[in-house]
Amino acid sequence: MQLLKSLEELRGWRNQMEGTVALVPTMGNLHEGHLKLVDLAKQHAEHVVVSIFVNPMQFGANEDLDSYPRTLDADCLALAERKVTAVFAPTVADVYPRGLAQQTFIEVPEISDILCGASRPGHFRGVATVVAKLFNMVQPDVAVFGEKDFQQLQVIRLMTQDLSLPVDIIGMPTERADDGLALSSRNGYLSAKQRNIAPVIYQTLQQTAATIQSGTAVEQALLEAQEHLKSKGFRMDYLELRRRDNLAQVQETDRQLVLLVAAYLGTTRLIDNLQFDR
Ligand code: PAJ
Repeated sequence: MQLLKSLEELRGWRNQMEGTVALVPTMGNLHEGHLKLVDLAKQHAEHVVVSIFVNPMQFGANEDLDSYPRTLDADCLALAERKVTAVFAPTVADVYPRGLAQQTFIEVPEISDILCGASRPGHFRGVATVVAKLFNMVQPDVAVFGEKDFQQLQVIRLMTQDLSLPVDIIGMPTERADDGLALSSRNGYLSAKQRNIAPVIYQTLQQTAATIQSGTAVEQALLEAQEHLKSKGFRMDYLELRRRDNLAQVQETDRQLVLLVAAYLGTTRLIDNLQFDR
């Protein structure tokens, strides 16, 4: 496995590469969910490149950029075991040569300003911009993203379509702990007590989807679910039902739906989602 620690090293490596390349973009601190993306990526290309870059542009001023866990050595060990071809871990200066003075951004506004984007202004602009940069740097044939971050996946799908980028976007179902909690780097911030409560978030999504499928009015089902989460100790950001493809408000005739939730346990913000048809 090659560890490429600069854009220059990546370019040198990429120029002599033969065969198809799958990119798995990450911010590191890898868990089994990330490694499942790697396994899926392997099925779609001859080589897998995992990028590890904690992207300052997608963090808000009050968010956890400085404290975000950086564990490059452990990540590389896990990836070597998984037999990826290369790890690309660029510096901030590689990705943002003009620093915060950068003037060019990728914006996908309609889908970026709702849900997580409403409480994290600029977040999806930062994500779309860095993913476009990573595509330009690595020049992959395919790229794999988790459905855990469902809004992010759809933002990237739309960006790729709108800009005619020559990259196939592949979504990977959410990897969960045995009790249903979606694996996330941020789960490490939870106390033992909060960790016990956290699986309620996915249970509530499952119950709510079943309630809606059985014909209960959507508004009522969502209200009851929010009350339930609050009673268990969550502070709500949002719980919404949306169209699956573009996350627009649901119309009577829409069949392919997704429930999306963001809620806090203490200071830790957890997100999850559940796709279902009606
Ligand atoms: P990060 O949070 O490190 O996640 C990297 C990839 O792993 C994303 O595609 C995410 O959806 C996926 N992932 C995380 N937890 C998962 C789980 N439990 N099951 C399945 N997939 C999971 O998302 C980012 O980084 C960044 O925003 C990035 C796309 C790298 C741009 O900076």
